Amino acid sequence: MITTNVWSVERLPDEQLGAELSAAASCLKHGGLIAFPTETVYGLGADARNSAAVERIFSAKGRPSDNPLIVHIADRIQLDALVLPYPELASVLMDSFWPGPLTIVLPVRTNVLSPLVTAGLSTIGVRMPNHRAALALLEQAGCPVAAPSANRSGRPSPTLASHVMEDLAGRIDGLVDDGATGVGLESTVIELVGEQLIRILRPGGITREALQAAAPDASIDSASDQELDSAPRSPGMKYTHYAPQGELVLVQGEPANVAAYIQEQVDRAARNGERTGVLAFEERLAQYNADRVLSLGSEVELNDAAHRLYAALRTFDESGAQRIWSESSSEQGIGAALMNRLAKAAGNRVVRV
Ligand code: TXA
Ligand code: MG
Repeated sequence: MITTNVWSVERLPDEQLGAELSAAASCLKHGGLIAFPTETVYGLGADARNSAAVERIFSAKGRPSDNPLIVHIADRIQLDALVLPYPELASVLMDSFWPGPLTIVLPVRTNVLSPLVTAGLSTIGVRMPNHRAALALLEQAGCPVAAPSANRSGRPSPTLASHVMEDLAGRIDGLVDDGATGVGLESTVIELVGEQLIRILRPGGITREALQAAAPDASIDSASDQELDSAPRSPGMKYTHYAPQGELVLVQGEPANVAAYIQEQVDRAARNGERTGVLAFEERLAQYNADRVLSLGSEVELNDAAHRLYAALRTFDESGAQRIWSESSSEQGIGAALMNRLAKAAGNRVVRV
């Protein structure tokens, strides 16, 4: 066990952030592990050039070593040192979405990053987070920072500093606490196939609709789960992720049928003495009677649901829920990422009623 220093900056004005985070940045630059907030989820950062530091990320998280890490930068100037020449389409997307929740997979230069970051691939995923504390930390550290989500592998990603402490206290050197993250789901990961095709490897904060609007002439497709299983392009997608400890089932269909089905299942489980949970939209919350009923907010405000999802999954764990059922949303906009994470959390137990 090591001591995890916490820098609480939530109430600090922007102009004091740099001074407050200089010790955290120095720790990062010298091989330390520092968790920090981004606009998506909290990340666990290490100097991406330093294999000993990156190795500590994998052991702190219990993460499989064939799953590559996203590299975070504060400035486009840092990018050319890391990657080989890339399609113009990538620049267009960077102009539109950086800083922001878009990770772009690009060809990596040899011998600049620890090979552990790329997990043997010839590419890296890079992004520039849109968060004041993340940018202040990255700027001062001055190095490319490899940062997966700051959770133990398989657990829901952290959207609060307390989630990071639950999973990683005593395993990491520090944590920058700047309150709740924004989007609440991880960045969109894309690769580019030539100048014309954007392939979404992981849906996230930047929606397909937003990508299309920024690049009207490009086609967009998504790597299907089947494809990811056979020849994983985004290796992380093949692992069970984001999962609560109880067994989660995702239920799809007409809202009224979904509610009736879920309540029937809850009643049956309760008769068997199991602790039950329901994850539902505000519109139908009052219809459920279970040990724990948690709200995703209104079904017409899916950004809210994205923001709440991971905290809700952790709350089910705290309340010892053994069987959990979740309603489904539309797959428009951020709904695509929301349903992707719910299906993963459910280990693909999806029921259509
Ligand atoms: O929002 C986010 O992206 C957060 C914050 C902290 O930035 N980070 C994050 O990292 O979610 P992580 O490690 O939990 O997920 C990284 C995903 C994995 O699915 C991984 O397989 C994929 O990105 N990835 C990373 N490098 C890749 C590459 N070179 N090619 C394809 N996929 C890659
Ligand atoms: Mg993760």
